[in-house]
Amino acid sequence: MLLIKQKPDIKEADITDESLYRQRRRFLQAAAVAAAGLAAPGLLASPFAMAGEKLTGVNTGRYVLDEKPTPYKDVTGYNNFYEFSTNKQAVARLAEDFKTRPWKIAVEGEVAKPAIYEFDDLLKPHKLEERVYRLRCVEAWSMVVPWVGIPLADVIKRLQPTSRAKYVRFVTLHDPEQMPGQRPGLLGSGLDWPYVEGLRMDEAMNPLTLLGVGLYGEVMPKQNGAPVRLVVPWKYGFKSIKSIVKIQFLETQPKTTWNLAAQQEYGFYANVNPNVDHPRWSQKRERRIGEDSLFSPKRETLMFNGYAEQVAHLYAGMDLKKHY
Ligand code: MTE
Repeated sequence: MLLIKQKPDIKEADITDESLYRQRRRFLQAAAVAAAGLAAPGLLASPFAMAGEKLTGVNTGRYVLDEKPTPYKDVTGYNNFYEFSTNKQAVARLAEDFKTRPWKIAVEGEVAKPAIYEFDDLLKPHKLEERVYRLRCVEAWSMVVPWVGIPLADVIKRLQPTSRAKYVRFVTLHDPEQMPGQRPGLLGSGLDWPYVEGLRMDEAMNPLTLLGVGLYGEVMPKQNGAPVRLVVPWKYGFKSIKSIVKIQFLETQPKTTWNLAAQQEYGFYANVNPNVDHPRWSQKRERRIGEDSLFSPKRETLMFNGYAEQVAHLYAGMDLKKHY
């Protein structure tokens, strides 16, 4: 059983380095002050402050994974964010000066409230939740991350999609000046920019789907997709698009970046599925970043990344070998 509904208990012993221990203490302190309804200007950052600052007013306990969280230094030091680099260990440094404020998000298409929203206007009215989810990358590694976010369904309901909206498309910022991986050149990833992703409307509305604005109790680090990214825990990591600037409601299924780049390898659905191999490697097992060495026995990958109970019904009757 992977999901338990109880208060998360990230044991201090699970957290290896001292800075993390201190962060956790600050997070608990912030939560206690928020719970007591005390305003403590200067002590606590605003809920939507800059990357790295503490988040306040975060509800916990709805979805908790009974597995040890991946150490903070690995979650923030090993990143896929091709806009900065294809070298996972270089992303954090290259993203240091990335500007995440001011930040606007365009809402377009089949929706009653299309507009270009300021980040705070779109997201601040919503409650923040901590959710400990596993992220399973298509490259057969995984992490367990205490994400902080807003259920995407809450935001979508407020925007009021029309009855014609069947899909939601997300677009990442395109800014080659700030994002060296978007500049043409020999060392590029070969992807078309901007990075785009999509979900079917029922996937977007599923209670597991988050708009992530933080992790480990702090505002989203830049390398993890600040200021806002998707977190879709039953799909391969590439669906969890980072640094979103546009949300479009569409009648037809949109193209997605990895599907456009390699149609035979990456489908629209990208549900974690140990029974469907990637054409070049098996998806049956995974290595946990920060814990397993290259020589450790790999862990078994679970159908829908362990969230079958919550999402299998979305795909009833579909051939998941065809719709990979
Ligand atoms: N979003 C954008 N815009 N660009 C990317 O390269 N990589 C994806 C996803 N979102 C990516 C992206 C992939 S392949 C993974 S595994 C996750 O981000 C990694 O998220 P993390 O760095 O928080 O672990």
